[in-house]
Parts: sequence; C-alpha cells; structure tokens
Amino acid sequence: MPQHTFKLNGEQVTVEAPDDLRLLWVIRDIIGLTGPKYGCGLDVCKACTCHINGKAFNPCAVPVSKIDPTDEITTIEGLADRETGALHPMQEAWLDHDVAQCGYCQPGQIMAAIAKVRQARAAGREIGDADLDEIRNICRCGTYVRIREAIKSAAAKM
Ligand code: FES
Ligand code: FES
Repeated sequence: MPQHTFKLNGEQVTVEAPDDLRLLWVIRDIIGLTGPKYGCGLDVCKACTCHINGKAFNPCAVPVSKIDPTDEITTIEGLADRETGALHPMQEAWLDHDVAQCGYCQPGQIMAAIAKVRQARAAGREIGDADLDEIRNICRCGTYVRIREAIKSAAAKM
C-alpha cells in the first residue's frame, strides 16, 4: 500500500492508503479526526471544509496522492491554541452568538469563515457582505443569519 506524508494540525503524519482515496476518508477513517463532516462527497455542500496551507478546501474532492509532504492541512481540531488550549476567536464567536443548531455543518462553516476573513485581509480590506455572500457552505438548519453575525464579530478579534 502506498504511503502518504503531510502535516496535519501541526504534526507530520504518514498514512498507508490507496492513491485515489479521498483525503476526507484518510482524515476521518484512518487518522480518526471526525470534525470534518461527510455531506455530499462531491465538493458541493462544503461540510468537510478544512484548510490547506491556510486556504479553504474540500478534502472529499482531493485524492490523498495529490497532497505533498510539505502541505499543511488544518481541521477544526487544529484551531485551538496548542500551548494554552484557547479557542480560536471564530470558535468563541460561534459560542457567543449561539450559532449551531444540529451542528453538522458547523465545523466546515467555521473553517470557511476563517479562510474568508484571511482572504479579505490579503486583498487589503475587512470582510463585508459581498465576501460573506461568497461562502457556499450549506446549512440545512438555516443558521445563516447567526453565522454572518458571528463572522463579523470574530473578524474584529483576528
Ligand atoms: S462532503 Fe465535501 S463538499 Fe460535501
Ligand atoms: S446547524 Fe444543522 S446543518 Fe447547519
């Protein structure tokens, strides 16, 4: 079985998996991190959203063989401060605004939100409604209004 090495939440990991196995199942079934959720498996619902090198991506759509040893993957499990355990400001904002309903989509929503704030900053602006409109993560519970409020308040602390 081929071996694959990459960085996951700050640690170098090596797994044995078929080249065409999608990264989401490597993370969930082989490594055992179940924060990234399986919704569609087709790069549509965004329930599985994680970060690769700081940017949002959907590991259900990426074969593990496409991940390089130098790639840094971050899941919701890797957001809290490693030293202190303090939650990321986006996670705190989620709690403050009581965003989650069933919770299924929420890890992906939080990961997408952080990446979107970073993307706006890299473009030299604070996050606005036009940026929020670009977030495509589906929430079947319809928590969108609270999600937008939480992202705006977290952005001020990031
Ligand atoms: S499970 Fe990855 S986008 Fe739906
Ligand atoms: S909180 Fe239920 S799917 Fe979003």
